[in-house]
Amino acid sequence: SQIDPHLFVIFGATGDLTKRKLIPALYHLMQDEDVARRCVVLGAARSDWTDERFREAARTALREQGYAEETVDAWCTRNLHYQCLGPEGNDYEGLRERVEQLERHRNLTGNRVFYFSLPPSIYTQAIEGLGAVGLNTSSGWSRVVVEKPFGHDLDSAQRLNERVHQHFDEDQVYRIDHYLGKETVQNLMAFRFGNALFESMWNREHIDRVEITVAEPLGVGGRAGYYDQSGHVRDMVQNHLTQLLSLVAMEPPASMDADAIRDEKVKVLNAVQQPDPRADVALGQYRAGTMGGEPVPGYRDEPDVPADSDTETFAAMRLNVANWRWQGVPFFLRTGKRLPRKLTQIAVRFQSAPVSLFQADGGPCVPRDADCEAAPNELLITLQPDEGFDLRFEVKAPGNSDDGSMPLETQQLSFSYQDAFGPVPDAYETLLRDIIVGDPTLFVRADEVEASWQLYTPLLETDLPVHSYEAGTWGPDAVDRLLPTWTSTGRTRSHRAEATSS
Ligand code: BG6
Repeated sequence: SQIDPHLFVIFGATGDLTKRKLIPALYHLMQDEDVARRCVVLGAARSDWTDERFREAARTALREQGYAEETVDAWCTRNLHYQCLGPEGNDYEGLRERVEQLERHRNLTGNRVFYFSLPPSIYTQAIEGLGAVGLNTSSGWSRVVVEKPFGHDLDSAQRLNERVHQHFDEDQVYRIDHYLGKETVQNLMAFRFGNALFESMWNREHIDRVEITVAEPLGVGGRAGYYDQSGHVRDMVQNHLTQLLSLVAMEPPASMDADAIRDEKVKVLNAVQQPDPRADVALGQYRAGTMGGEPVPGYRDEPDVPADSDTETFAAMRLNVANWRWQGVPFFLRTGKRLPRKLTQIAVRFQSAPVSLFQADGGPCVPRDADCEAAPNELLITLQPDEGFDLRFEVKAPGNSDDGSMPLETQQLSFSYQDAFGPVPDAYETLLRDIIVGDPTLFVRADEVEASWQLYTPLLETDLPVHSYEAGTWGPDAVDRLLPTWTSTGRTRSHRAEATSS
């Protein structure tokens, strides 16, 4: 797609996200000379930095991430600039002058990206600051990019949308959920709508349940200030897991047009019933444990976490999608910090064969009989790490069982993204490219973000027990009440998901 010459303004340019994600992604994107010639970056923040200081910080960040090429130096000098917003962070007049000056010097035509890599508490100030000095209009296009969390609940998300819309039209707003930039998440659509084989079975007639797991071994790290206020439902479920759910459950869009796709996502979200907090949800918080042979502290002993914090670091729930395709098929969501390993996986469990002929005791049985072992087919969609698909099915193992019955064994067909295509691109790079070419498909629309908050409102408003779990385990025992055996991790037999554990 065509890339227009533009100025890429990063608010919060001295912060962690800029260093870890935005600078490396921009650097990578600009290895393409076409982009490099057309994109000028202006960092902005309160700190009294100079262009040179910002460039030095960027060089260090890139070196830390293993970029040693000589081009790093030249790139930083040629493409990076910095503007101080003053100690209060409100010198938008100064920002406007600098923007216009850079545009004159670099022959830009007024196309602008404003990327808010900011604490959410100052989104509104930044939006209004831009509006007050007229930076929301120009002779070219303007796009504003807002990081998550977008709001704290339904009410605050609606208010934030209203504020944003006072100064920018919805088609100028790019709400980021970085999961949507992951290649394998996009591949969910290709998989579903590029293949007739599975789509015809993708419904309540054939699917028994869907499980979505997003597990991380990391603890809260240095982010307690934000995280302790948010908790895991806001940090992960309302956005990332809900996005995965809508991509798995949505109807085929009429076209690949951004709004056609987002219309379907909103439609399916509106069909999801609010979970009953007490019956359908289990929350947890990690206590001290051992991971990879090393002791790790409990959540309450992490830096900046209050010793009596009740913030959840784990959430599991059961959702029902009340539409013609899915009514009655449970969608189980599970996500947490300090779980045994990194795993983002969707497990689709198909219904068992109606009659099982291959029983040890000879006779056919039906799945509802006790001990009837009719293994269901399962499709595992692994989004990270070890991206790929595994389709599990039964085969006859060689030879015969002692009792003369035919021995069955579960095997699988596997596709590995890495083997087929090599390393997958970084999500931020994909998303930044989409922002500069103006493709909003992978960004969250206003109605979508509100539909998602709406879904979790009763849960967020209920004072639920937060069960303790040991770091390095799969969460509190209370999860068993929802689903005792999770397809992704609940088996002992060897399959790829387990084989990657270490
Ligand atoms: C972020 C959350 O949005 O996603 C973090 O704020 C979490 O708490 C991260 O660790 C997980 O992202 P990924 O891409 O590593 O799965």
